[in-house]
Amino acid sequence: MNIQSLSTEQLQSLEQELTAEYKSFQAQDLKLDLTRGKPSSEQLSLSDSLDGILTGNYKNEDGTDTRNYGGIDGIIEMKRLGAAVLGVEQNEILVGGNASLTLMYQCVLQAYLFGFDGPDSAWNKEEKVKFACPVPGYDRHFSICEAFGIEMVNVPMTDTGPDIEALTDLVKSDPSVKGIWCVPKYSNPTGIIYSDETVAAIAGLANIAGPNFKVFWDNAYIVHDLVANPGTLANVMASAKEQGTQDSILQFCSTSKITHAGAGVAFLNATEKNLATFKKSLGIATIGPDKINQLRHAILLPNMDALAAHMRKHAEILKPRFDLVLSALQEAFGDNDLGSWESPEGGYFISFDTQPGLAKEVVSLAGQAGVKLTPAGATFPYGEDPNDQNIRIAPSVPTLQEVESAMQIFVNCVKLATVRKALA
Ligand SMILES: Cc1ncc(COP(=O)(O)O)c(C=O)c1O
Repeated sequence: MNIQSLSTEQLQSLEQELTAEYKSFQAQDLKLDLTRGKPSSEQLSLSDSLDGILTGNYKNEDGTDTRNYGGIDGIIEMKRLGAAVLGVEQNEILVGGNASLTLMYQCVLQAYLFGFDGPDSAWNKEEKVKFACPVPGYDRHFSICEAFGIEMVNVPMTDTGPDIEALTDLVKSDPSVKGIWCVPKYSNPTGIIYSDETVAAIAGLANIAGPNFKVFWDNAYIVHDLVANPGTLANVMASAKEQGTQDSILQFCSTSKITHAGAGVAFLNATEKNLATFKKSLGIATIGPDKINQLRHAILLPNMDALAAHMRKHAEILKPRFDLVLSALQEAFGDNDLGSWESPEGGYFISFDTQPGLAKEVVSLAGQAGVKLTPAGATFPYGEDPNDQNIRIAPSVPTLQEVESAMQIFVNCVKLATVRKALA
């Protein structure tokens, strides 16, 4: 369907056809939801053996009684696992509670209020603090910036990661840019993997930035592959060490989308110097993390092989849902310019760009036909997509049948909104 080549009469008749189809969807009174980037119950059940897995043995391999206070940086088994997952040194890992988001928040808090290099390095000593935000991105990262009054500057995403020229220009020219949010593998929401050149450029940003620059490297989807031989992600900490910028790297991941999303284990990777600073502050807020849950996880996932086998089970559940979404998009828009998208090899999201100015309308039309989508704009700082074109699709929770129905409606809404705009 090439909208530009249609006459007004043809557009009118297409609009009538699409409206009739739209009304038939409305009449079905469906309640479908593509908003939630969380595991389905079926996925959560893969880890139900966590419950009772300790069989009364609370001591870990070095004899620590995990029921007691202490161990601010977590148990040794989980440090080993975190180090293996991220490809870093074990002494550069802190194992936390159930949310990496909390660790990210606490790291921003540390950098903003106390500084990682003493009080003079605190960002709040500056008149203005800005973050580079690759867009579209993860809304909760943006919420952290908003909570601290940190001004967010959009940097466009490409299919190899943030636009490196735009990013380096920004960071070089404006020393008030103190940080950047990155989801380098299966980026939320575009699903792409940063290229090796992009990883190296971001790892080295601190060399061209103003003082106290930090890279928030949120590796939430590092082991969340859907295909057998996925693309690979370069090691940001290794690259930073080569460039002498290792103290600028704060790397995060968690088991939230590996085991139980609400009861997992989170990891922070940073240099020993940064970890020591962070632990000092953390030790004021807590006497230690939930080591019992860490031990449960260590028994369920004793090594990388066990983790990989576990992730394959997730992929078996998730992949057919991704395939349904991607084939629906390909069939409807593969031969026209009504929309564009990436085909992720992992992660939780598919990101769809409508023609400019239509995302809000598509989300609204879909909502009125029983398909709930993440609000348009949510993937941008301040909820403002300057081109009003990005829509995040999260197919993990609905059943296959529901995904199929939801995509039929989604496709209809994109076409309808585009045709109506052409007629307007
Ligand atoms: C990119 C990204 N980071 C972090 C999180 C949340 O992680 P956690 O559950 O470890 O706080 C999510 C959840 O959707 C995410 O998409």
